[in-house]
Amino acid sequence: MRTHLATELKDLSVGTEVKLAGWVKSHRDHGGVVFIDLRDKSGVVQLVLDPEDSGEAHKLGVEIRDEFVLIVEGVVRERGEGLANPKLETGKIEVVIKKLTIENRSKPLPFTMGDENVNEEIRLKYRYLELRDEEALKTFRLRSKVAIAARNVLDRLGFLEVETPILTKSTPEGARDYLVPSRVHGGEFYALPQSPQLFKQILMVGGFDRYFQIAKCFRDEDLRADRQPEFTQIDVEMSFCDQEDVIGVAEELIKGIFKEAGHDITVPFRRMGYNDAMELYGSDKPDLRYGMEMVEVGDLFEDSTNEIFSNISKDKKNNRIKALKVPNGDNEFSRKIIKELEKFVSKFGAKGLGYFQMREDGIKGPLLKFMSETSINELISRTELQVGDIIFFGAGNKKVVWDYMGRLRIEVAKRLNMIDNSRFEFLWVVDFPMFEKDEDGTVKALHHPFTMPKTVDGVEDVEDIESIAYDIVLNGVELGGGSIRIHKEEIQKKIFQLLGITDEEADEKFGFLVEALTYGAPPHGGFALGFDRLVMLLANKDSIRDVIAFPKTQKAQCLLTSAPDVVANEQLKELNIKLRERKIEQS
Ligand code: AMO
Repeated sequence: MRTHLATELKDLSVGTEVKLAGWVKSHRDHGGVVFIDLRDKSGVVQLVLDPEDSGEAHKLGVEIRDEFVLIVEGVVRERGEGLANPKLETGKIEVVIKKLTIENRSKPLPFTMGDENVNEEIRLKYRYLELRDEEALKTFRLRSKVAIAARNVLDRLGFLEVETPILTKSTPEGARDYLVPSRVHGGEFYALPQSPQLFKQILMVGGFDRYFQIAKCFRDEDLRADRQPEFTQIDVEMSFCDQEDVIGVAEELIKGIFKEAGHDITVPFRRMGYNDAMELYGSDKPDLRYGMEMVEVGDLFEDSTNEIFSNISKDKKNNRIKALKVPNGDNEFSRKIIKELEKFVSKFGAKGLGYFQMREDGIKGPLLKFMSETSINELISRTELQVGDIIFFGAGNKKVVWDYMGRLRIEVAKRLNMIDNSRFEFLWVVDFPMFEKDEDGTVKALHHPFTMPKTVDGVEDVEDIESIAYDIVLNGVELGGGSIRIHKEEIQKKIFQLLGITDEEADEKFGFLVEALTYGAPPHGGFALGFDRLVMLLANKDSIRDVIAFPKTQKAQCLLTSAPDVVANEQLKELNIKLRERKIEQS
């Protein structure tokens, strides 16, 4: 239907006859001369309907509206003196229409395209209109390129692309499962995979040696800006490898992907132990584009006359007192802002937010009266406190303090514009604990229960057991993670035991994997990158929804299709399902 794409016209000589097809991005009538910006997948070109040069076609000008589909024949000409548009790739030329077909019409749009202030519900309902925008197309072109680059790198490294089932059994990634009822086996359910974890391990037992998949995963969990119920991983597994081999492959893959997207990044990436990450940044995914490490000052409160602080400082295993020095923070933060920050940390369990300010005439702050002069001097030197700085304090249970002080660090960096958006700061966080305990003492696997522990012998507290697990973090976002897996039945059983999973339960849930381990499982390990998150960071978007063609809302709905939806009674009957209520409204 066309001879050229819009942006190809910039290389043509004036006078060339062309045929174009696309959408009316905008149109304006200048005293009978109608200017149309025609958009196709390549970009935009200006068309002109001129009463003198366009003949019969000019009559159709009055009918044209935004987003109509046009097919036009015309002649390329240079724009008049001073009329070039430098913002447009084709800004020096325009096409005088000789023949015009209105191929299809569009109703008036429900929102102005490209307007970011439009309610997301409306944008997602009419997602196809939003996708038509050039910016969206650019993002999805990048997404496609990243997928192809990933395939090319992994193919070159000898990985085999294998699809694993979607209708399967529950996989233990820690979220709720999406379930699919079985018609043939009434009362039984498939689970959609939270990841291909179990299958990829079984492929290693199957001798495939190196596997990858661009895999759809499903997790019924609370949604955030970087989480979707249905998302994609670049999932990798390999045999006869140690942590270094896996990290090497991941770095080569990430480097290849970034190169394709136009960024030369340097490998190997920095590494940091989980403990250091928590102690310094209060997070296992620290953003290293800015500093502001936290400083431990518990020992300076041991002799404090404030009992709360001195008591906290006594339990060194479970408690922390952390100082976060904000350079120039005293100059920048008014009393009102400090109050706001206090309110902010209180949402994450802080009982208050202590602070010291460094002034020309010395250090100020409500906690000073409880500290000895030696401790105050040590605090000043340990935090390298300068006039104009402020120090915030967090004191209490270490997990709570890490969490809110880590969040405070990010909040402060945002408020003070300390984040350089043009940088990519990669970090491997290594040496994760194998387990963590809930508030009620329940032991959970931090990654998943198939992760290889460094050792389980002679460790008194399960929380002190380290695993051979690693996460890759980019600019404070967890981009991916992986581990070396348990390939021996006896270790796997021991881990289930420590997790309080009974033999029957283990057998029922993962018996097939444990059994596979008894038939000559090779040492193996792997990782998965969050593909959507990767594209989100590469495209510099704030939300994962911008890089998914048909995303779900915060409430896990697809507004375009109205899923989830009620189904006919017959369908339920076939599935042997009886509902207690036809539709249960969520409160
Ligand atoms: P994990 O659970 O860490 O590991 O997931 C790997 C990566 O997938 C991305 N991700 C998500 N992205 C969008 N929405 C979500 N709801 C979501 N959940 C996770 C993150 C995350 O780092 N089987 C293991 C990998 C392995 O051990 O090989 C796994 O799934 O970027």
